[in-house]
Amino acid sequence: MSKVSIAVIGLNGFLGKPVVDAIESGKFDDKIQFPIKAVTRKEKPSTSKIEYVVAQLDDEHIDDVAAKLKGTDVIIELVAPNPQLFSTLEKVAAKVQPKLYIPSQFGVDILQIDAYARGFLAIKTEHSTKLRESGLKVVDFVTGFFAEPGAFLYEIVGVAGIDPATKTITQRGSPDSKISITKLPDIGYSLVSLSTQDPATLPDTVRISSQVITLQDVIDKYEANHDVKLSVVKTISKEDTLKDFQDRLAAGFNFADFFFYLQAVATQGLDKGVLFSEVHNELVNPGESLFKWGKF
Ligand SMILES: NC(=O)c1ccc[n+]([C@@H]2O[C@H](COP(=O)([O-])OP(=O)(O)OC[C@H]3O[C@@H](n4cnc5c(N)ncnc54)[C@H](OP(=O)(O)O)[C@@H]3O)[C@@H](O)[C@H]2O)c1
Repeated sequence: MSKVSIAVIGLNGFLGKPVVDAIESGKFDDKIQFPIKAVTRKEKPSTSKIEYVVAQLDDEHIDDVAAKLKGTDVIIELVAPNPQLFSTLEKVAAKVQPKLYIPSQFGVDILQIDAYARGFLAIKTEHSTKLRESGLKVVDFVTGFFAEPGAFLYEIVGVAGIDPATKTITQRGSPDSKISITKLPDIGYSLVSLSTQDPATLPDTVRISSQVITLQDVIDKYEANHDVKLSVVKTISKEDTLKDFQDRLAAGFNFADFFFYLQAVATQGLDKGVLFSEVHNELVNPGESLFKWGKF
């Protein structure tokens, strides 16, 4: 396969640095056409491997952004799930016609959840559908929960029912519920690895997982790291949690409930959104030949 040209859109969120680090790691030098384009709102000095392209991502600048990305084989979208932004990028993608588009999913398997709780994160599913309607090869990239020291699952622990302010836990389902997590550097390497593969051979959904842990592991780590004992103040069954999840979603998506939604998903078990019978770790990192999967 000839070298691939890559564009990354949205550099200053959680995934920009891991992807840039993977591109600069040297591991993919024989497969990437440098420099890759990094589309951002913030000016930054380009390097021999990364050309920063400042662009306005709105409907008035579609032709301008499409011209800047002309000839790109793979677009990796790392942006916030914002309806206006998604709509603009769908129009840009339709003009650029990359061979592969990886939209901003990077979380739970939304289609698995949709089978029992309709409409969860529908904005992301609709985005992928619209991109596919433009004839593009789209890979929905599922990572489970992010795990990042100082942030997800270390300090941001609502998925385990922990309230750091009151040092309490609202336990839903079993604390032994298993969840699939991915460390951010692993996401960076996996995205770049996937980008260098023949798009025609890729499944429509790629799931990766650094590790499977339990909600109790999150609680134990939080207690150890913070030298604190958390007390369980409420216990709610998996079944009641599911009904509550479905009812709250039916009333309309509410961002204030986001960690409740994720905790509900975490308690539901295999192939219900965040614990997978099929992962594609070998596709992106055969025999750990590119990187070692991180640990919680
Ligand atoms: N699985 C998990 O546990 C988990 C946790 C967090 C996030 N996620 C997912 O990861 C993805 C990225 O999330 P994030 O929190 O990193 O995103 P974010 O920080 O909100 O945004 C990422 C980047 O998107 C670009 N952007 C945002 N709003 C824009 C706008 N209006 N116009 C143009 N560009 C805009 C910016 O890039 P520039 O600054 O370069 O312009 C920004 O740095 C999302 O799909 C999110 O749902 C998953």
